[in-house]
Amino acid sequence: MKHLKDDAASSPTVRTSSFILEGQFLGFVLEGSKLKYLRMALADSELEIKLSKQSRASLGTVIHPQDWIQVYGAEICDRHSQNCKLKAYQINRISSQVENHSASFPEVVQTTIDKEAETLIQNQHNSVSAFKILVCQKSGCQKKGAKQQQQRLKTALQERGLSDRVTFESTGCLGKCSMAPNTMLMPGKKRLSGMSTGAIVDLIR
Ligand code: FES
Repeated sequence: MKHLKDDAASSPTVRTSSFILEGQFLGFVLEGSKLKYLRMALADSELEIKLSKQSRASLGTVIHPQDWIQVYGAEICDRHSQNCKLKAYQINRISSQVENHSASFPEVVQTTIDKEAETLIQNQHNSVSAFKILVCQKSGCQKKGAKQQQQRLKTALQERGLSDRVTFESTGCLGKCSMAPNTMLMPGKKRLSGMSTGAIVDLIR
């Protein structure tokens, strides 16, 4: 992902990481007549993901609402504000809602991809963490057991064979300090404060 790596290197305030998501396609958001964003539903949330030029080209005829899809992309975050943007580089239809009743196996239909995305996708096939958990390192959260919570999560993920799907990353104050210890699931910026270890692991499956 040449451009994104260059951006990250030239701006220490921006963090870029790749992702793969699976979920149900909800529809497109148009800007004029252009497909600008894709909306998809995950287990417990909905996301709006910006489409790259190439992924946009053939999408309209390939996927339909309620199809099950897989999205390869990058998440670009401002390190200070934690504001993140998601960008899709390849969308695969895993199975079609319309054809499901007659299909013996899920059908995979790939959109075209641009050169820029090839490296990203190759890297993802080699080493993939679909989710990232940001852990607040500030004293408010550390005093309330952030480290122990992280350890419990790691153990639970390991027990369920999900360790490969999650990476942990240290971050600054996430706000809502009164609910410490605070963690956030990415992509999607879901706050995990107050959730049990089991409930968090269920989000990862
Ligand atoms: S101190 Fe951890 S969220 Fe503010």
